[in-house]
Amino acid sequence: MISSLAIFLSLVWLNNHVNGSYKFNALVCDLRAPEFGIIKQCNIKAIDRKHNMINIEAILNKTISEFSIRFIMVKRESGGWHPFMYDMTVDICKFFRNPRKFFIPNLIYSFMKSFTNVNHSCPYKAGADLSLLHWTPDENGVIAKFPVDHGQYGLQTTWYVNKISALQINGSVLFFK
Ligand SMILES: *[C@@H]1O[C@H](CO)[C@@H](O)[C@H](O)[C@H]1NC(C)=O
Ligand SMILES: *[C@@H]1O[C@H](CO)[C@@H](O)[C@H](O)[C@H]1NC(C)=O
Ligand SMILES: *[C@@H]1O[C@H](CO)[C@@H](O)[C@H](O)[C@H]1NC(C)=O
Repeated sequence: MISSLAIFLSLVWLNNHVNGSYKFNALVCDLRAPEFGIIKQCNIKAIDRKHNMINIEAILNKTISEFSIRFIMVKRESGGWHPFMYDMTVDICKFFRNPRKFFIPNLIYSFMKSFTNVNHSCPYKAGADLSLLHWTPDENGVIAKFPVDHGQYGLQTTWYVNKISALQINGSVLFFK
């Protein structure tokens, strides 16, 4: 955590002048434990030639009072995905009790906050509709906080419910000039 924070801060300082635009180019949702619910939608929709958005919606079939997400940031290089900056697991119920204690997760969440109803501490009740809809994070905001080189980046997430790997959502984004 400390070292990834240091890397992050040095990237911010070294790379402060990169700019550009980005577009989502892949999204998969894989429900590995179907007893927890169903995925209603998981797609990328075009807004215009240069912009698109993500829609993810799931209906819970069981009340959940414990879940955590492992998220791995990866970068595409020489034909493969390689770990990039972060690989961390966050207890979501704890996160929402005090988001400020979780610097990087809170930064990522800040770009999703107004697009999702996954915004409170546990429990999440059976029958609840959980969504991230019309997600188009603010380009300048993201680039100011994650001033990375142009290229293709991925976020691979595994959702653990009661320590069981229940759901995987992987997405990638192309960052270009
Ligand atoms: C998501 O990425 C992980 C690697 O972190 C991989 O093992 C898994 O197969 C991917 N899942 C899907 C549904 O593509
Ligand atoms: C969960 O799924 C079962 C079987 O598909 C169904 O009978 C039940 O009504 C569902 N429960 C909720 C809370 O959606
Ligand atoms: C959580 O999301 C719901 C639905 O968008 C919204 O009505 C509610 O005010 C949000 N709560 C918080 C704490 O942001």
